[in-house]
Amino acid sequence: MSAAGVVDPARVVDESGRVVLEGVGKRYDTVRGPVDAVADVTLEIAPGEVAAVVGASGCGKSTVLRMLAGFERPTAGSLVVGGRPVRGPGPDRGVVFQDYGLFPWLTVAENVRWGPRRQRLPRGVVRRRTEAVIETVGLTRFADRFPGELSGGMQQRVALARVLANEPAVLLMDEPFGALDALTRTSMQHELRRIHREAGTTILLVTHSIEEAVYLADRVVVMAGGASVGVPGHVREVVAVDLAGERDVNAPDFNAVERRIAALVHAGTDGPGGGADAADRA
Ligand SMILES: Nc1ncnc2c1ncn2[C@@H]1O[C@H](COP(=O)(O)OP(=O)(O)OP(=O)(O)O)[C@@H](O)[C@H]1O
Ligand SMILES: [Mg+2]
Repeated sequence: MSAAGVVDPARVVDESGRVVLEGVGKRYDTVRGPVDAVADVTLEIAPGEVAAVVGASGCGKSTVLRMLAGFERPTAGSLVVGGRPVRGPGPDRGVVFQDYGLFPWLTVAENVRWGPRRQRLPRGVVRRRTEAVIETVGLTRFADRFPGELSGGMQQRVALARVLANEPAVLLMDEPFGALDALTRTSMQHELRRIHREAGTTILLVTHSIEEAVYLADRVVVMAGGASVGVPGHVREVVAVDLAGERDVNAPDFNAVERRIAALVHAGTDGPGGGADAADRA
């Protein structure tokens, strides 16, 4: 993918953005014994698809994302991105977490070009990409500022730009907008949808906001379980968001999808099976 409308169509349709998880499990060995954070997660995300992951705290959402990012190894199953098994972090996967992870001693532009430079791309390519993604996130006027001089929303946009500069096939986002005020959050959601329309990147987004999930995603993955309920985290259901046209958070059909997912999330807090009726009633 490429930012600022410079789309390479070959990237949009190719397989580099396909994400396949098969029977993925993660067991942590702790002083109190083994903890099965997640078990048997099987999921396929098509190239260019936006999938949101929701579920109660502790159900393993971040664990799944960290394994896809290559920060942690699974203890069961396999994770494959773009046809290649995940063995560690790589520039094919861009990671945006809640803490922006910016280098405070570097300017906006220096933060953004850090990744492409590390990939040893030619200088001209680095410069063009840096300028393009900074423009995409609307920070051209702030390119020479330091992160500490920017608002939280602007820092989050820098974090996004920094990841986009690597032109990843897959964007992994863990509650990226959680710390932002409502207005900034809404504008970041619009921004992300626009970037996605232009670039066709596969996006896997963890969020606590069901509204955000339904607004952004083609499919919503509802996870349940977790150590606190004594059941490993797992996928409870995958809900396709079939809403035509521009999504309107106030539209009745939008709210109906939200309610269905909310019921599934809350059913999940009782462990598998428990409270599934609530979801059926939605
Ligand atoms: N390094 C670790 N060692 C031991 N247990 C861990 C570790 N990391 C996570 N866990 C456990 O794994 C389970 C899943 O954690 P995870 O952070 O993936 O949940 P989550 O769905 O992202 O929750 P939240 O919504 O609160 O962010 C939790 O029970 C957690 O305590
Ligand atoms: Mg988490």
